[in-house]
Amino acid sequence: MSTKHRLIIDCDTGTDDAVALMLAALHPEIDLIGVTTVFGNAPLYATTTNSLSVLELIGKGHIPVHAGFPRPLVRKAMPSERFFKTDSVQDPHGTYLDIPRSASKPASERAVEYLIETYRNATQPITLMPIGPLTNIAAAVALEPRFAEWVPKLIIMGGGHEVPNISASAEFNIWADAEAAASVFEAGFKDVLMVPLDATHKALVTAKECAAFGALGTPAGMATETVIKRRIGSYESSQKMDVPESAPVHDALCVAALVEPGIITTKRCHVAVETTGTLTLGRTVVDTHHRGGKEPNADVAFDANAPRFIALMMEIFGQR
Ligand code: BDR
Ligand code: CA
Repeated sequence: MSTKHRLIIDCDTGTDDAVALMLAALHPEIDLIGVTTVFGNAPLYATTTNSLSVLELIGKGHIPVHAGFPRPLVRKAMPSERFFKTDSVQDPHGTYLDIPRSASKPASERAVEYLIETYRNATQPITLMPIGPLTNIAAAVALEPRFAEWVPKLIIMGGGHEVPNISASAEFNIWADAEAAASVFEAGFKDVLMVPLDATHKALVTAKECAAFGALGTPAGMATETVIKRRIGSYESSQKMDVPESAPVHDALCVAALVEPGIITTKRCHVAVETTGTLTLGRTVVDTHHRGGKEPNADVAFDANAPRFIALMMEIFGQR
């Protein structure tokens, strides 16, 4: 029996999703068995093509990519377009990534059916890692009530306790489909790790480190430099970090935490998602002091070991 971590990533690729996909697909202790896509950082057609492009670039084009939801579960669109100046310097992603564009098509089976059937038939544990809006996961739960039981571990990039990014109170992935996110946190998944902005903003990548990825000279190293460079430009122009010329690479921290759990520091809490607040739509309400009387439903990451995170990516992206 393989001792590798079997993994499915649900993503909205996206620059930081791209780094997460490369880290997962190239890490020798991870078996990335499939990728599902969702709208988010860009429209679904682009997040799907971007996912295919990233995998092909690093010689992993055999990993199937299944397209999922093009819009939120309940709302017709994301709550506001205000923050999306697509393809401007403020946009950390762009529509298409600045890497060779794949001409491949996604798998014929759609994401939600793929997820349900894969978990229904699984004979070994498979971690599920949503790093975009939670629409596909919520739809799988709605369609198959046993889905939450079947998933042994769910690692979510999303939310923020002290650190928001898309509004004064919310993080993008949760805000983009708050109703879906609320239903996922209520679904009874047995082992949930939430990696919010509080942790990802502790694992910043600097311009110097970014150049060092490029200097590795591998396809993954060079693509990592390209996409993180864009992120740093965007963060410098619209949300400067405490460390000069740096940016978080949120989604990749989830992959690092799968293989090296000690890379983050967590606290067990109850998490709920605000779906009606006019000022707080999409806020993750993290009960850090256990005042709400509800059983904790997640391990929430509050800190991260940045040097180890960078070193891990250097090791994996430097492999030939
Ligand atoms: C999250 O939102 C997306 O823009 C990123 O890819 C990441 O998953 C950070 O808020
Ligand atoms: Ca993402």
